[in-house]
Amino acid sequence: MLSNIEVDNLTVNYTAKNHSFTALEDVSFSIEAGEFVSIIGSSGCGKSTLLSILEGINTPTKGEIRIDGKPINGTGTDRGVVFQHYSLFPWMTARKNIAFGIKQVKKDLSKSERLNIADKFLDKVGLEEFKDKYPSQLSGGMQQRVAIARALAMNTDILLMDEPFGAIDAKNRTILQELLLKLWEGDGTQEKKTVVFVTHDIDEAILLSDRIIMMTANPGKVRKEIPVPFERPRNRSELVQTSEYGKFRNKLINLFYGDIAEKIGGNEVVL
Ligand SMILES: Nc1ncnc2c1ncn2[C@@H]1O[C@H](COP(=O)(O)OP(=O)(O)OP(=O)(O)O)[C@@H](O)[C@H]1O
Ligand SMILES: [Mg+2]
Repeated sequence: MLSNIEVDNLTVNYTAKNHSFTALEDVSFSIEAGEFVSIIGSSGCGKSTLLSILEGINTPTKGEIRIDGKPINGTGTDRGVVFQHYSLFPWMTARKNIAFGIKQVKKDLSKSERLNIADKFLDKVGLEEFKDKYPSQLSGGMQQRVAIARALAMNTDILLMDEPFGAIDAKNRTILQELLLKLWEGDGTQEKKTVVFVTHDIDEAILLSDRIIMMTANPGKVRKEIPVPFERPRNRSELVQTSEYGKFRNKLINLFYGDIAEKIGGNEVVL
């Protein structure tokens, strides 16, 4: 089933040593069922905080997030997560890490079915030869690919991804972006999904998303919601050469860096 998300007046204060810090303030936006939304904003603007609340491992100070009208209450099997920092179990091999993830959401599958799905996804992320390796035997980028394979193999209604491709080389990044888009759209074996995708990469956000939510920092707020005007399927190499793409990209860059320029007393960036 496809799920919609409503973020409603979310405020998150962190308190440490009698000092309170507002990470997110009055953040509100909605994501339609089946929509692919990217969140962009400078470091520290609260993107991971927002995802931790969506995941259900953190609670807001004020406001709430609802999934299909129901306030989030803890983690759920409707949500798959790729964390900003790789998060594999060090005592499990790559395929066991993935099979374990699948077990959490698909209790009816047998062990061999789970391992088969794990192998299929290791193949999709180009790591079939490494399936019996432990995380410590894999590079950082490879560990992140296993974590991505795990989240995709879980086939949840909602995917929460926190800079999932940040540590991954350019070639594999392109392959993974295509794979993610294919699974998001539904490919016969998987249903269409709702995706919340955090990235620092403006081109990645344009290529993948229906809509981009730009945030500002201190405190974290929504600066602007920007629909991506390009039809799908998007052909990466053709699209990036069009003048419409260049103009749209510049508009986003100006918004993004304009925020920083304001803080340092400079002008908006003109490219
Ligand atoms: N557990 C915590 N206790 C206190 N402050 C925290 C905690 N977690 C995050 N913060 C602060 O809240 C702010 C938002 O952090 P968050 O990790 O959500 O930012 P982010 O947008 O994901 O940044 P980045 O792009 O660097 O990953 C930061 O100023 C951070 O220092
Ligand atoms: Mg973060």
